[in-house]
Amino acid sequence: MIIAVDGPTASGKGTIAKALAEHYGLPFLDTGLLYRAVGFQLLQNGGDPDSPDDALEACEYSDDILEHPELRDEAIGGLASRVSVHPEVRAALNKRQVDFAYQPGGALLDGRDIGTVIAPDADVKLFITASANVRAERRYREMKSRGVNVEFEAILADIQARDIRDAGRTTAPLKPAVDAIEIDTSNMSVETAIQSAVTAVDSKV
Ligand code: C5P
Repeated sequence: MIIAVDGPTASGKGTIAKALAEHYGLPFLDTGLLYRAVGFQLLQNGGDPDSPDDALEACEYSDDILEHPELRDEAIGGLASRVSVHPEVRAALNKRQVDFAYQPGGALLDGRDIGTVIAPDADVKLFITASANVRAERRYREMKSRGVNVEFEAILADIQARDIRDAGRTTAPLKPAVDAIEIDTSNMSVETAIQSAVTAVDSKV
């Protein structure tokens, strides 16, 4: 069984994806981490995220980078969103994701284009959304709880900018696959969101 979980930043897709992988005993790949690794490597190289050549060079990161806690930083997320616009970068990261998706025994991947590009014939495709305001509130609370000093308005602006970049790019834009089941988590608790995802998967298999 292949499960594709796509959606915008802070929609709850990562939490849902992890819970589903555990529930169904599937190996899990957070593909955002691969783009974040490229952003991180680009920073180390002193490259320009808007240059396709610099971004492509940063795709040759060593896998140790994937263990760095800094990959989760907002700044790296922003860089990931900028390097992921380049078709060259998407092509360079494609094989690893496709191989993971089509391994024997199945897999679960979360990202932006899993259901549309990486695994278009996935058994189940979920598209997780929530309003920009709710997503900004979640990110704000999460950062505050880690002691990071942030302004709500700045987070909301960043989330909106990322949405526009992710959905507006020409190659593999963020959008639900035609056969995706959409789950809007705006008014759901984490438990309810996970439960509705399980129900959605069970309805398909
Ligand atoms: O999911 P996460 O926030 O870690 O992803 C960081 C950025 O990487 C996203 O904003 C998006 O631009 C990019 N990304 C992508 N395709 C994926 C996963 C992430 O373009 N499959």
